[in-house]
Amino acid sequence: MNTPFPEHLAKKVAACGNIAVVVIDEAEKAVPLARALLQGGINVMELTFRTDCAIEALRAVVKEVPEMIVSAGTVLTLDQLKAAKDAGSHFAVAPGFNPAIVKAAIEMGLPFAPGVMTPSEIEGALQLGCRLLKFFPASVVGGIKSIETLAAPYKHLGVKFIPLGGLKAENTADYLASPIIAACGGSWIAPAKLIKASDWAAITANAMRATEIAHAVRS
Ligand code: 3PG
Repeated sequence: MNTPFPEHLAKKVAACGNIAVVVIDEAEKAVPLARALLQGGINVMELTFRTDCAIEALRAVVKEVPEMIVSAGTVLTLDQLKAAKDAGSHFAVAPGFNPAIVKAAIEMGLPFAPGVMTPSEIEGALQLGCRLLKFFPASVVGGIKSIETLAAPYKHLGVKFIPLGGLKAENTADYLASPIIAACGGSWIAPAKLIKASDWAAITANAMRATEIAHAVRS
């Protein structure tokens, strides 16, 4: 049976320490955006499936920027999951835990990290073999203190989290300092207005800042 998220891929995500979460409105911006992130040291990006062009954008990044590890984000339906797989997505994530989606992802061999926020959701995900979990919405439910408290009964099982929701340069270090955090996700690195303005230099600068934070905390 396939595992929900292979160890070698989880290690690559953790080595980067940051995931740039992106909402893209123009597919042609995806490749320069991915290159700008790479220049700033970020080689993991989540392309959210919230806009019509997201699949086309994902396909373009997979083809044109092979150094980038691309995740499909906000994967809520089986059709989106199949589309992510067909477009060459390296993994997929969702804000919540939907057992049907996780099972389908395992079956099709698409690495998947579901979102959790409660002990019951963590246990449901663990039962399906998941060890890498998104934690959403991290900042509004108590940040790293909440995650550590919630994770305490499950830490021995090797579970790791990717917090998202309200993360910024100012609080990223607090999360990354904890050994139960694999990587931090946030839209602050490539916010919609910088993408709209094609301000790749500003996005590279944000990516560099995120990368420096990760290196400083983890070295
Ligand atoms: C999302 O899916 O939009 C993420 O949770 C990002 O949240 P953020 O915009 O607060 O970084």
